[in-house]
Amino acid sequence: MNPDEERHVCRCEEVSEREIREAVKAGARTVTEIKRWTRAGMGICQGRSCRRLVERILCEELGVSPATLEPPTTRPPIRPVSIRAVCREEE
Ligand code: FES
Repeated sequence: MNPDEERHVCRCEEVSEREIREAVKAGARTVTEIKRWTRAGMGICQGRSCRRLVERILCEELGVSPATLEPPTTRPPIRPVSIRAVCREEE
């Protein structure tokens, strides 16, 4: 095993590169499937910093270009919003 594969790709959910490669080998074919199987991208950054790393590993494992990947699902808000800011909008 390559020791570099123990590096965390998603720091907040403590998901390593090895875990992502294993998910792809087990059948994950999209960033969303990797997210569901490993929790990579479900932490505080919501994929803003780790999604590109997940995509790179997925592309390496599948031997495809990033342009061919299915876009990941996103849910609003894209950025965290304080309740105070939401309440101000409703006034
Ligand atoms: S680093 Fe964990 S969700 Fe992005």
